[in-house]
Amino acid sequence: MARPREVAPALASGHFRALTFFAESADTVRAARDMTTATLQGWGLGRWSEDARLVVSELVGNVVHHAVPDNCLSQPGGSRRVDVLLKMWPNWLFIGVVDEDSTPPDLPVGEFISPELAGDFSEALLPDRGRGLLIVQRLADAVWWSPGDDGGKTVWCRFDLDLITSPS
Ligand SMILES: Nc1ncnc2c1ncn2[C@@H]1O[C@H](COP(=O)(O)OP(=O)(O)OP(=O)(O)O)[C@@H](O)[C@H]1O
Ligand SMILES: [Mg+2]
Repeated sequence: MARPREVAPALASGHFRALTFFAESADTVRAARDMTTATLQGWGLGRWSEDARLVVSELVGNVVHHAVPDNCLSQPGGSRRVDVLLKMWPNWLFIGVVDEDSTPPDLPVGEFISPELAGDFSEALLPDRGRGLLIVQRLADAVWWSPGDDGGKTVWCRFDLDLITSPS
C-alpha cells in the first residue's frame, strides 16, 4: 500500500540501534516492541512504527517459541539471547532479529489458497498457525535470513521508506 511521503531529519547520517533481550524474561516481546516504537518515533519514522512493532513482535516471539541455541547441550539452563537491530540508511529501514539457533526460519512461499477461491471468507487465506512470517512478509517490502559467522542467524526485513530530505 502506498504511504504518504514523510520528511525525515538527519537523513544523511542514518541511524543504528541494537537492543539485547533474553528469551526467558516474561516481558521480552513487549519490551522489544515498545523499544522499537520509541526508537522509530525518535528517528522521525512514526509512520512506520505500528508495522515495525508488529514485525518485531512476530520475529522476537519466534525466537522465544522456536529457537534452540546451537550450543544448548553444552550450557544447560543458559539464557537464550535475542538481539534486535534497527538500521535506517539512507531510504530504507532494516529490522534484524538475531538468535543463537542456526536452523533457518520456515519462510512462506506463495499463497496457501488463491483469493478467488477464498471468496468472502478472507480468514481462509490464513492457516491456524504459521501466520507470523506471513504477516511479516505482507507488512515489509522484503524478508530474508542470513547465517551468523559463529552460528545462529538473523531474520531480516526491509521497509522502503520513500522519504524526502528536508532542505538544509
Ligand atoms: N527464529 C526461529 N528459529 C527457528 N525456527 C524458526 C524461527 N522463526 C520461525 N521458525 C520456524 O518457522 C516456522 C514458521 O514461523 P511462523 O512465525 O510463520 O509461524 P509459527 O511461529 O509456527 O506460528 P504463529 O506465528 O502463527 O503463532 C515456525 O513454525 C518455526 O518452525
Ligand atoms: Mg511465529
